[in-house]
Amino acid sequence: MRIICSETYEQMSAKAAGFIAAQIHTKPNSVIGLATGSTPIGIYQKLIKWYEEDWLSFSKCTTINLDEYCGLPADHPQSYAYFMHEHLLDHIDILPENAHLPNGLNEDIHAECEAYDNLVKSLGGIDLQLLGIGNNGHLGFNEPDDCFHMNTNCVNLTPETIKANSRFFGSEEAVPKKAFTLGIRPIAQAKRILMVVNGLHKAEIIYKSLFGPVTPRVPASILQIVPDLVVCGDAEALSVIVREHPEAVEMF
Ligand code: F6R
Repeated sequence: MRIICSETYEQMSAKAAGFIAAQIHTKPNSVIGLATGSTPIGIYQKLIKWYEEDWLSFSKCTTINLDEYCGLPADHPQSYAYFMHEHLLDHIDILPENAHLPNGLNEDIHAECEAYDNLVKSLGGIDLQLLGIGNNGHLGFNEPDDCFHMNTNCVNLTPETIKANSRFFGSEEAVPKKAFTLGIRPIAQAKRILMVVNGLHKAEIIYKSLFGPVTPRVPASILQIVPDLVVCGDAEALSVIVREHPEAVEMF
């Protein structure tokens, strides 16, 4: 595990984007797992810039997004499909057929989950998985629970997550109550995982995830056993780790 601490969000985003660019330069047909939320936006801005400068191409890449709200069509402004098009996909040269998200409108939940897992398998797994972390330690929408849910599944969002995401919907009532999420297995089996985390409000949960017990009550704690984990954080988010385990942190 590498934990890389940058002073600011911008520096953290540049560093993390560098890992994604290096992955694509090393293996142009990489399968990249993508996340939504506020944290990766700075990374996506960097990747778009490098594409525009002709330094990076996504033409052979495939992307697999972590999650999607149930019941939202792809053209709904709060759907994750919409988010990905707005923040990345419409601004780079990825082939539309190579960019994947769960279909939030599929009412056959079992079929949708199975198809998504089979898609990941058919691609040979994920080369690099980008992850944010929820305030409660969720990964994708794998919420704290009594067990880890290994396969792609449809989850009931916790009141905490609904509250956290209501900032995008205007009210808690408007937030969908269910979402598809990639399971813990395809996430944890990614050949490399790149987690990004910023802000003081994430300092305790990232510390607990990386240095506390491995438990489904803190889904991100599973990252302690993945073979290749890189955590890029800003100084605020990594403040507790820097205090408790300064030897574990690389300053950037
Ligand atoms: C998004 C996702 C979530 C977010 C997490 C952090 O696709 O899977 O797990 O990464 O909720 O969200 P932000 O970055 O908004 O704090």
